[in-house]
Amino acid sequence: MTAQHTHESVVLPQGVRAPRFRPPAGASSTASQSLDGPWRFRLYPEATTGADPADAGSDWATLDVPGHWQLAGAPDAWPYGTPAYTNVQFPIPVDPPRVPRANPTGEYRRTFAVPPAWRSQGRVVLRFEGVDSWFEVAVNGQVLAQSHGSRLPTEVDVTDALVDGENLLAARVTQWSAQTYVEDQDQWWLSGIFRSVSLEHRPVGGLEHVSVTAGYDHRTGAGELRVDVETGAGSAVVRVAELGVEARDGETVRVPVEPWSAESPRLYDVAVSTPAETVTLRVGFRTVTTEDGVFRVNGRAVKLYGVNRHEFEPTRGRAVTPETMLADVLLMKQHHVNAVRTSHYPPHPHFLDLCDEHGLYVVDENDLETHGFEPLGWRGNPTDDQAWAPLLVDRVVRMVRRDAHHPSVVVWSLGNEAGRGQNLAAMAQAVRSLDGSRPLHYEGDWASGEVDMYSRMYAASPEVALIGRGEETALPDGALDSHRRGLPFVLCEYAHAMGNGPGGYTDYLDLIDAHPRLMGGFVWEWIDHGIVRRDADGTPFYAYGGDFGEELHDGTFIADGLLLPDRTPSPGLVELAAAYAPLQVRPAAARPGALELRNRYAFTSTEGARLEWTLMGEDGVVGQGELEEILAPGESRVVGAAEVVGDALIESAGDGGLWWLVRAVPREAPSWAPEAFDLGAGQVLVRQAAPLAPARGPLTRTADGHHAVGPVVLDATGRLLRVGATPVRLARMDAWRALTDNDARRAWGDPIGDGEAWRRAGLDRLHERVDRVELEGDTLVVTARTAGAASDCGFTVRYEWRTVDDTTADLVLRLTPEGSWPGSVPRLGWLLALEQPSAGDVTVDWTGLGPHESYADSARAALAGRWRHTVDDWQTRYTHPQENGARRGVTRARLDLAAGPLTLRAVEVRVGGRPVHGVELTARPWSDTALDAAAHPHELAPDGVLWLHVDAAQHGLGSAACGPGVLPNAVLRPTPVTLQIRLTVG
Ligand code: GAL
Repeated sequence: MTAQHTHESVVLPQGVRAPRFRPPAGASSTASQSLDGPWRFRLYPEATTGADPADAGSDWATLDVPGHWQLAGAPDAWPYGTPAYTNVQFPIPVDPPRVPRANPTGEYRRTFAVPPAWRSQGRVVLRFEGVDSWFEVAVNGQVLAQSHGSRLPTEVDVTDALVDGENLLAARVTQWSAQTYVEDQDQWWLSGIFRSVSLEHRPVGGLEHVSVTAGYDHRTGAGELRVDVETGAGSAVVRVAELGVEARDGETVRVPVEPWSAESPRLYDVAVSTPAETVTLRVGFRTVTTEDGVFRVNGRAVKLYGVNRHEFEPTRGRAVTPETMLADVLLMKQHHVNAVRTSHYPPHPHFLDLCDEHGLYVVDENDLETHGFEPLGWRGNPTDDQAWAPLLVDRVVRMVRRDAHHPSVVVWSLGNEAGRGQNLAAMAQAVRSLDGSRPLHYEGDWASGEVDMYSRMYAASPEVALIGRGEETALPDGALDSHRRGLPFVLCEYAHAMGNGPGGYTDYLDLIDAHPRLMGGFVWEWIDHGIVRRDADGTPFYAYGGDFGEELHDGTFIADGLLLPDRTPSPGLVELAAAYAPLQVRPAAARPGALELRNRYAFTSTEGARLEWTLMGEDGVVGQGELEEILAPGESRVVGAAEVVGDALIESAGDGGLWWLVRAVPREAPSWAPEAFDLGAGQVLVRQAAPLAPARGPLTRTADGHHAVGPVVLDATGRLLRVGATPVRLARMDAWRALTDNDARRAWGDPIGDGEAWRRAGLDRLHERVDRVELEGDTLVVTARTAGAASDCGFTVRYEWRTVDDTTADLVLRLTPEGSWPGSVPRLGWLLALEQPSAGDVTVDWTGLGPHESYADSARAALAGRWRHTVDDWQTRYTHPQENGARRGVTRARLDLAAGPLTLRAVEVRVGGRPVHGVELTARPWSDTALDAAAHPHELAPDGVLWLHVDAAQHGLGSAACGPGVLPNAVLRPTPVTLQIRLTVG
């Protein structure tokens, strides 16, 4: 091996062919053979393994291809090292293109045979879809090629090395290589042949490559099809049977078609034939433009309601199965996601077939990230180093050749977080020369000189508003500035979905919907990359950075997805579905008691949906019906509850609170939709509940000198002892929560994170001092002060207890902050901890918003209704435990305690003097302290207590883990609170 061929050199792959496009499985008439399955495998500590490529490794162990060697035995055994997680920082010295001596290197072996006709009538090509990170290929002991580009295809012509009968294939794969410096994506470091390997017969005169251009002219309704081929011999015939089209390659055909869009992903079979080979492609006709600063598909402005997707499975890493790819696409569709950015590399090609078929707009991203140079001031960044130019260009070219026939791909992205430099222009030019039909994206250079859209990540909504209005700060270079001002704007990442959150989707989406220049955004990110492993007792859990004892790691930052690692939708995804829903249903800003309905589809009217309304009272449904409205694409309408429902029905509904809900349900559910699927839902409070009858019963003394307030017993010092027959472990005001990942970090530009500010104020260590216990008429008044150790700010607290009757008592809790407070507090309310042996089994039946959790800036998915959960089901088991599970707007909750039912009613709630509808309720089988201390959910154990939070309010969630914190409209300030709760036993 010559030095220039080593894994440490910046050279193009050697001995390889330009890879051809990847047709869907079974689409080509030529023969192929999968080489997936068990291969012989041996891991060496260094790249100079000394293994002979002619050695079949017959006595070696086996390893499944595709797969990563670090996950070979997961979760039970780790025979070949363990995964390691870093975000920005390189886990090796930054010394490009060299890498350390310690360089785990896998030697792979397997045998194969090909039919003799493959060799006599054409060529035999070995195709690797993805190998991480550098590899060398030998056949029958003859070294044929070296390649790299972990998420890109490699083709090697092996014909001349083949023999009759059995052939030996050897691959040497290094973990580290020069390529590591351009593949620094925020994910686990995982190595090996992790995508499929195949042998393909390429017959003489077959299709070496096919490129398809299929546009749509929205003015005439014509599709415009042109197919170009590389055949090595002669031309090809192009047939679209369904359209009666027959043409030659290179010819442009115009014919009326139904266009492709993510809303209606219409595909046509296009057969491309030479005498030697036919490939049948699924083609969609559509045209993408960015003229006048607006992103358009088929002439209509289209907004991208997107997510960033890494490939991930908890036991397989990036070696994702077709089932997982389908699951992702369906989950996206079901949650109203219409776009996906393949962060930060081209995905497995089958994923794009699924996007074509089911309808998702794709930003296909090059396999390029050099983020680890940023902490070094971008010194030595490959993006700006001429020596790397051919290699970076090779990467985009291989992506475009592989994927350009997919209608779903609407944007090419040059890479992610690779800084600035001359090689961006070279890459952009290479892409444009292969495919001029799609706009280009790159975020790392805000001047946007080489691309067709201005892209940013995590910009706060006020800045996005400025950009939407075209009022962003000018660039120093006038020409660049006017170029950028003419571009549409995209948030390639926003709303960091780490742990509980993000909050604040609506603020972004209102801007995106309002400004033509804003073409949408992609939430970061789709799934938590938790890897299954077992603790010392054999209990499985999802590991994150540091759980494998890495020397350097970035901890929980790998768990920042909308799906939990097992693909359970997190509340953040449920919320996203509401925020992205094509039919928006929201309280009308200017008309109390009315809803605004808005059809966000660009091409589809609401004709295919039933708009069902429900009038919801305290006990359940009061009335139901259907709206007659049909909304054209883009249309909005305001509809008042009273005019639809009629005053009579509203008045007949007693005097409790009343919500009016509208839900859009498809008349014919798409094949991929679950039963409860809707296209959007929302509600408006049409009537507040009338006040409950005042408490007038007498206070009594028990034989042992305690105060009895109806069913509630307090001792002479004001300590709450029992509610009915249920002993109380602890009851007091509370202003703390187990920090969310967003609380625990500092928002961009903030000097201190919320969590840190709260700890400094002592909110995690509150102590109560009781000043007085006295009778004021029929009211037992306990006056106290609650404050944190080492802090001089606190709350004056008044607990006022009144009897309603034998089974019912009222508590009025009045809090007033005093002293010098930070800007926010996590919660203001009452903590009631009840002794309860099986707290997890207690059922909570509540009237309020649900069924999922909701917070001040994450409440679009919460619907008014009567809901039931056990306390166990009430918990969200975030990969990193933290505050979760709040239900807002709760006016009544019934808990079936061991000693009998306890019902809580919200009588009156005021925050800063402002009335609030209902309380925020949380129920847990463990304390906030335990929740805060746990590193993984399986470490949490029920402690025999039911921990209830009855809050007047909680602070929002924000997105401070990466980006802006809680916006002013969801900040809970230290402010006076009144909370009146009625407790009924039995
Ligand atoms: C971005 C980056 C992503 C991810 C995210 C934080 O800067 O592009 O790959 O690291 O931040 O989770």
